[in-house]
Amino acid sequence: MKTRITEMFGIEHPIIQGGMHYVGLAEMAAAVSNAGGLGIITGLTQGTPEKLANEIARCLDMTDRPFGVNLTFLPTVNAPDYPGLVRAIIEGGVKIVETAGNNPAQVLPFFKDAGVKVIHKCTSVRHSLKAQAIGCDAVSVDGFECGGHPGEDDIPNMILLPRAADELEIPFVASGGMADGRSLVAALAMGADGMNMGTRFIATKEAPVHENVKRAIIAASELDTRLVMRPLRNTERVMTNPAVEELLRIEREKGDDLKFEDIIEQVAGVYPRIMTEGDMDAGAWSCGMVAGLIDDVPSCKELIDRIMAQADAIITERLARFQAG
Ligand SMILES: Cc1cc2nc3c(=O)[nH]c(=O)nc-3n(C[C@H](O)[C@H](O)[C@H](O)COP(=O)(O)O)c2cc1C
Repeated sequence: MKTRITEMFGIEHPIIQGGMHYVGLAEMAAAVSNAGGLGIITGLTQGTPEKLANEIARCLDMTDRPFGVNLTFLPTVNAPDYPGLVRAIIEGGVKIVETAGNNPAQVLPFFKDAGVKVIHKCTSVRHSLKAQAIGCDAVSVDGFECGGHPGEDDIPNMILLPRAADELEIPFVASGGMADGRSLVAALAMGADGMNMGTRFIATKEAPVHENVKRAIIAASELDTRLVMRPLRNTERVMTNPAVEELLRIEREKGDDLKFEDIIEQVAGVYPRIMTEGDMDAGAWSCGMVAGLIDDVPSCKELIDRIMAQADAIITERLARFQAG
């Protein structure tokens, strides 16, 4: 399938694997890229420029297809070495970057000079327009359904995507709640040039996470995510578990006085324990409502081939039947 996104990134299928903390390692990115999508290494999971450079080199050993690096800008006092991470990306020869979390204006000139394409992840039309205005090449429009940080507007993709299509000139992909060929065709129908998936890619053979994480996604229904940290205006959609329910109890108890320190035990440093060790109750981990649509663990190639075959069948068979005639 050819879209503005496949053309821009030099990929076969308009399917992107979004950056995911402790999931987006070289193995994940290479598997998605080898299957014809766009795999993405998560920069902050590596943390330092040296480790990121090493992860990029590992990925280059595993694929000769394009892959990207996610650079998430966090509201933190101990900021990572962003200039160093930018250098590691450029010197590593990576040509695609997914930015998220905050306006990427400060890093954009460096990427532009190095011929790196930037796709910025946004949860609103106004942020998407801002990304377009500052020179981003594309945006990933992340609806309220998404795993991770949906922002504070709570606009689901059924509204957000056509709104984005009405306003944007640069291409965008639909993100949040995407799982299969139906998602892809719907995204295309609403004006997107492809789709971005997070949660769905965790439940794949190659995802370098503990089996317990894959099992938890398969066991979960669409009712099993919760929104945490809303009082801090840092809302995150996570899978429910006892730690998350305790976090929500603390939020209710503290009300407007909630501080990050009150919930630090449930959110800080829990990713390695969950993703690597499989301790599923260690704390809050991002997961989308789309878990309700996930019930198997295919390889990335099986998943992407299946999505493309289903999308093709929907377009040529199901939708064709509805044409006036
Ligand atoms: C476990 C997990 C970790 C994530 N970590 C990040 C991250 O570090 N940076 C980022 O920009 N997005 C992150 N995301 C968001 C994804 O890139 C993607 O936008 C989101 O998962 C899309 O929604 P979906 O899960 O419904 O497909 C994460 C998502 C998950 C599920």
